[in-house]
Amino acid sequence: MAEFQKIAKTSEIIDGEVMPFYLDGIGIAICNINNNYYAFRDECSHETFPLADGDIEGENIVCIYHGAEFDVKTGEAICLPAIEPVEVYELKVEGDDILIKI
Ligand code: FES
Repeated sequence: MAEFQKIAKTSEIIDGEVMPFYLDGIGIAICNINNNYYAFRDECSHETFPLADGDIEGENIVCIYHGAEFDVKTGEAICLPAIEPVEVYELKVEGDDILIKI
């Protein structure tokens, strides 16, 4: 059973931004929306480019490469050219630390 592991500090991700991290060899993007944090696989389901290069719009991450959009809470693909979802991960904040379960 997966345990929560520390992956980042809250101060590393300012409101409205998305940042790339690695844990156990997996690229993980974490975004901050109104000081709520969401994590998802840092790999677009269209052509595997990093989603952390993209932009947050509302509650979606927009892939900078070909414009696909994903819901950061569910990973659902909501805009072509992506069809498949991206994996999302459970997070919790303890003090200044962001912990993730992968
Ligand atoms: S790699 Fe993300 S839309 Fe193509």
